[in-house]
Amino acid sequence: MDMLIIRGGIPLAGNVRLAGAKNASLPIMAASIAVSGLSQLRRVPHLADVSTLTQVLESLGAVVTRDLSTGELAISPPHATTGIADYDLVRRMRASVCVLGPLLARWGKAVVSLPGGCNIGHRPIDLHLKGLVALGARIRIERGYVHAEATRLHGAEIYLGGPFGSTVTGTANIMTAASLARGMTRISAAACEPEIVDLGNYLNAAGARITGHGTPVIEIEGVDELHGVEHEVIPDRIEAGTMMIAAAATCGDVFIEDAQPRHLSAVIDILRQIGVSIEPSSTNDGRMGLHISGAAHLNPADCTALPYPGVPTDLQAQLTALLCLVPGISVITDKVFPDRFMHVPELLRMGAQIRREGASAIIAGPAHLSGTNVMASDLRASAALVIAALAAEGESVIRRVYHLDRGYEKHDEKLRQLGAQIQRTTDHPEALPDSLRMTGESSMEQHKVQEIPGRFTQPIQNPLAKPHFLSDGYAIARPMVSQSDDSSGPVADL
Ligand code: UD1
Repeated sequence: MDMLIIRGGIPLAGNVRLAGAKNASLPIMAASIAVSGLSQLRRVPHLADVSTLTQVLESLGAVVTRDLSTGELAISPPHATTGIADYDLVRRMRASVCVLGPLLARWGKAVVSLPGGCNIGHRPIDLHLKGLVALGARIRIERGYVHAEATRLHGAEIYLGGPFGSTVTGTANIMTAASLARGMTRISAAACEPEIVDLGNYLNAAGARITGHGTPVIEIEGVDELHGVEHEVIPDRIEAGTMMIAAAATCGDVFIEDAQPRHLSAVIDILRQIGVSIEPSSTNDGRMGLHISGAAHLNPADCTALPYPGVPTDLQAQLTALLCLVPGISVITDKVFPDRFMHVPELLRMGAQIRREGASAIIAGPAHLSGTNVMASDLRASAALVIAALAAEGESVIRRVYHLDRGYEKHDEKLRQLGAQIQRTTDHPEALPDSLRMTGESSMEQHKVQEIPGRFTQPIQNPLAKPHFLSDGYAIARPMVSQSDDSSGPVADL
């Protein structure tokens, strides 16, 4: 198992190019099972999740070839299939459930393991199943597997709203299945995420007749067959947002090539409220993107993660890490995954002042984060810990970075290109930096980098901010007089 050793305090600077979107690649790869010809995909990221789905597709009889250097991936669909997606593969990645709709529509049968527990909260698939039943599937759950059958699916009116909004992979499943159903399907309360638009564009290029993808109402006129297709996956907006937040947290100056402002409007809005400068820009050779410059003085925020076009839940943990550094009280609420706060205890270990309150985290800043040993619990939590470590004083060790590798292509390499001091090594006690060995004398002094302008040079707490202990034992500072010239307290993003 690998771990990352990060020496914080260095502003990120330079250009970075985004990988293709993980959350677009996975449902598109799964949908290739419903296509009768070859799917030739470009800009598929080199990620553990893509490898897992490749194994799922191969287990279903597809032939997958992949060029890791170019990001090209070709899928020849199976000539025959068992239709079984096994627990051992599905438990490794929930998005494997995206093969359910395509298998059923093309092969009339699917046996897909229920994904099971998840670190970011309860994640049922009832809406997926409801949609497939409406399309005419017969479904039963037996011994932890969904067994779905249908001779030919038929069009239907389907409402996909749930208690936490729509479902992204559920919309992908139903949209793909309905592409091969007889007649018209109308999905209302569909997910509007750009990754759903990308899947719709891929399916249309393969001969599907889908309109309205990207809006809450998607209409699909079923066709008899989908043919081979070439498609380039959209750039990863979550990687873009993560890099933007990392640049802000380190007071950096970064150009993110291919970042699409229209996919990131809520993120740009909240970061600008916080005081980060973000401008569309281009490279000398004409590549478009976003230019981020962090500011030494940032404003607190009141931010809510919502389905698209809101602030993505997949950036909630990273924003939490950033808000720890901001003077004043910030609030971040997750309305998509209300329990997605596994990063909070690890941030507390680094010196953050955060209190969980239901689906919200109340953050008192600025925290003087100091490097320590932390453990990644899930994909986006690991990205948040990397951001906190980049902004912290001294060295941090982040363990279980396989979570990070599930969803970020060469993340440490890209950060290194931007000037970060980040090293990947095998997780072994001998590999721990001296500063994190408890020898009795602190060796931290020798590692003080503290080059982030204005961040650590200010007093960490002003006299009005005596710690106030709350009933659950977490210390939280009283509102501080902001060190920012133009801060007038928390601002709302919605
Ligand atoms: C996708 C993304 C994930 C992102 C999430 C929310 C992929 C591969 N993954 O996950 O990165 O965090 O969207 O933007 O695209 N729900 C139900 N019933 C269902 C399905 C979902 O109640 O049948 C609930 C979930 O528990 C959650 C909310 O709806 O509270 C959104 O979940 P959903 O959009 O389905 O997430 P995923 O598609 O699994």
